[in-house]
Amino acid sequence: ADGTHVDVLVVGTGYGGSVAALRLAQAGVDVHMVEMGMAWDTPGTDGKVFCNTREPDYRSYWLRTRTKAPLSNFLGFPLDRDIPRYTGILDAEEFGGITVYQGRGVGGGSLVNGGMAVVPQRANFAAVLPSVNPDEMYATYYPRANAGLGVSTIDPGWFESADCYQYSRVGRKHAQRSSFPFVFVPDVYDWDYMEQEAAGTVPKSALAGEILYGNNHGKKSLQRTYLAQARATGRVSISPLHRVTSVAPGSGGAYTVVVEQLDTSGGVTATKTVTAGKVFFAAGSVGTSKLLVRLKATGVLPGLNGEIGKGWGDNGNVMCGRANHLWDPTGGLQSAIPCCGIDNWTAGGAFAEVAPLPTGIETWASFYLSITNNPHRARFSWNAAAGKVELDWQTAWKQPSIDMAKTIFDTINAREGTIYRTDLFGVYKIWGDHLTYHPLGGAVLNRATDNYGRLHGHPGLYVIDGALIPGNTTVNPFVTITALAERNIERIIAADL
Ligand code: FDA
Repeated sequence: ADGTHVDVLVVGTGYGGSVAALRLAQAGVDVHMVEMGMAWDTPGTDGKVFCNTREPDYRSYWLRTRTKAPLSNFLGFPLDRDIPRYTGILDAEEFGGITVYQGRGVGGGSLVNGGMAVVPQRANFAAVLPSVNPDEMYATYYPRANAGLGVSTIDPGWFESADCYQYSRVGRKHAQRSSFPFVFVPDVYDWDYMEQEAAGTVPKSALAGEILYGNNHGKKSLQRTYLAQARATGRVSISPLHRVTSVAPGSGGAYTVVVEQLDTSGGVTATKTVTAGKVFFAAGSVGTSKLLVRLKATGVLPGLNGEIGKGWGDNGNVMCGRANHLWDPTGGLQSAIPCCGIDNWTAGGAFAEVAPLPTGIETWASFYLSITNNPHRARFSWNAAAGKVELDWQTAWKQPSIDMAKTIFDTINAREGTIYRTDLFGVYKIWGDHLTYHPLGGAVLNRATDNYGRLHGHPGLYVIDGALIPGNTTVNPFVTITALAERNIERIIAADL
């Protein structure tokens, strides 16, 4: 409520925010979390909380009047459709040179993502976070993150026989025939539940094409893991449909936080001011960067340093599809949860997930999301005239990612006598190079903050999300975001409370 004082306020309920809330609550601290998206705990008119990728409705997108699906076309037909403007679950946020997809709601990205839970290879870790001791990460914090998130791997025996992973077995065959290393990828989806879906004994979710707009069953989103545990302490409260717009130094070392309450069409219904002893920025790479860049540029947080807004990257994301021969079908039934990939990172190619195309019909396509070592880093800055934060990413900066992905898929196409699909991202367009699912950076660890996420210049302000990571994690990012948050909050609880 307006005028309240809280010990700790957390901005955002994704991975970083959920770790902070749980560990602070367990240490006896009262925590209030502010989340601009919805609670996603109430069924809609069809009895379901989340809508299906095949039938996107009002629940699908954050404040858009038309869907903006990552795959825009199929066999020459545009896929996007009109929808009512609503505080839906997936934000396709457009900057000049890139569309950044993000989850909106209690649970952040865990609501919409594929659940792929990947620990980077230790040899690559120094390039990700050079100031962090890898011994501690690999002995303590990665295992703690995996346990907290409920990560496990598909039963290899079931994988061999499941109809819904024919597409993955085709992906494996093609990778191995070109001598690329094939790997299984752990996930937070409940694999036992998926086996029951396949057996027809429970309501289907992954096997019904649910993913981008939420999973009604099976996926262990943060609502079912860290946030459930945090709520069970009795010390954590959450305000959904509330957006933090300002954090300013107040009296006695506390901070004055301005919060807007939203209705489901995005309108502001109330503006509230609360005070907080400490504030954790966990609004995601883009959300945290946008807040900090504006608050620094407008003089609200003048002590922030010149690293704010810098070091942003797209985790080298690029997508493509390959057209298989008619005798190599990928299956009309495809689990929406990926379970495997090609780990060719060290050779300079990519960490490429074999991704589903859960259309419900045979497509004869193999589809891939590649994570590549793209060297480009963009910067957020405040445009005072337009009154908004901009990002200077250039569309052409995806070319190194395309070149790296081509080292894999040109080779596979040559070996298999196949070609790229040109119908998935437009008309005659091979590469999905307009987007990222993995925004990282903008308030980089040990630059904008100290080595534990304490913002320079304003004691009691912290960053604890993907903004800390300088642009790339060499694999899918949320386990690293979670593990780094576990490391940092342990130190902050020991030293600052
Ligand atoms: P995260 O984005 O999770 O949470 C931030 C929260 O803050 C959001 O809920 C947001 O609404 C809220 N917020 C923002 N601004 C606010 C404000 N001003 N006031 C209040 N609240 C505010 N990763 C992976 O490892 N494996 C995978 O399989 C995938 N797959 C995938 C698919 C898709 C479609 C997407 C979009 C993303 C993925 N990811 C992924 C990426 C992963 O989801 C992402 O890296 C993490 O969610 C980032 O975690 P953070 O804690 O940084 O923020």
